[in-house]
Amino acid sequence: MTDPLCAQDYADLAGKRLEPAIRSWLDSGGADAHTARANLDAWRALRLRSHVLRPLSDAHTRLTLCGQTLAHPILIAPTAWHGLVHPDGETATALAAAATGTSYILSAQSGTAIETLSALPQPPLLWFQLYAQACREDTLALASRALQAGARALVLTVDAPVNGVRNAEQRSGFRVPDTLRAVHLEGLSPPAARPAAPGGSPLFDSGLLDAAPTWDDVTWLRHHLPDDTPLWLKGVLDAQDARRALGCGIDGLIVSNHGGRCLDTLPSTCEALPAVARAVANRIPLLVDGGIRRGTDILKALALGARGVLIGRPVLHALTAGGAPALAHLIQVLRGELEVAMALTGCRTLADISADVLWPPDARGLGLEVPKE
Ligand code: FNR
Repeated sequence: MTDPLCAQDYADLAGKRLEPAIRSWLDSGGADAHTARANLDAWRALRLRSHVLRPLSDAHTRLTLCGQTLAHPILIAPTAWHGLVHPDGETATALAAAATGTSYILSAQSGTAIETLSALPQPPLLWFQLYAQACREDTLALASRALQAGARALVLTVDAPVNGVRNAEQRSGFRVPDTLRAVHLEGLSPPAARPAAPGGSPLFDSGLLDAAPTWDDVTWLRHHLPDDTPLWLKGVLDAQDARRALGCGIDGLIVSNHGGRCLDTLPSTCEALPAVARAVANRIPLLVDGGIRRGTDILKALALGARGVLIGRPVLHALTAGGAPALAHLIQVLRGELEVAMALTGCRTLADISADVLWPPDARGLGLEVPKE
């Protein structure tokens, strides 16, 4: 293959290099992967509407999110275990993020501690993703540790209180090697699981769901965090849930179906985003992830109401292919593609991107409001 030019080229390279079990972990979706595929297909199915001869001088991709200025709207999604795909693990990701002015949402399930990343000579803008722990105090302790180490925002992932049905991983025999340690989770109390009685349900009778978080836990966490700490919820797809999050004092939402890895046959995030955007009505910012592979996907996400996007699998593909330099290249490629798409749809800044760049403007019954001619 010639040098990689786009996200798919990195995916192809990674597909050739990774051993099958790790590839199944990285690339598969939940159950039959309908949602994982739909994430990709839905962005592609939306058509763009060009606008010619609009002034484009002083164009830029800057934005402000919860008071933080970002150079561009591409963030690195939290994904576990970067050490599975590159020996430098999360350090490689952080170096690429810093080199490209990209926010890196570090997963709590990483093999590198946030303190190590924030001690790099040039650390990136770090956010920290966590799951609610079995004990509220542990969740708060984890959040406080991350803030102490320099995390500028917290992301609470709420769409995976249990793992989805992961048949591809079961078939390949994937397991996390003992050499990788969940450095942020050591010492925290695991959920009090009990063996199900004979004939009982392995999930419902195991006690595991007793620890599943609720809206009360979200409100509690928000209340116990410093007021100026942005708290995002990741994994909201539904307008009703989005309104509920507003009521809990959440600062931003990440519209996500976990890359289609949890509940299969959920809608794609492209389909779900417009209703969430209507429910939130600009009161808090939205980010979206799932299937973003081209600059045109980013433009469409912003046209549907997101302020920015997260990329998950493409980060791991690039790390596999060439560590930090490859990831920095991929981010520059996506940013460059976004800039081309903006120029060709007559958008000088991210604020210029609206449903006006979609064809037809009420594409597929999304019910979008577009400016009149
Ligand atoms: C994830 N994702 C994820 N999300 C999260 O909140 N915490 C995590 O630790 C992980 N881990 C993880 C591992 C792997 C291998 C993948 C592919 C995904 C979900 C991730 O943040 C994001 O929502 C999706 O990856 C977005 O979809 P794309 O960009 O991969 O299509």
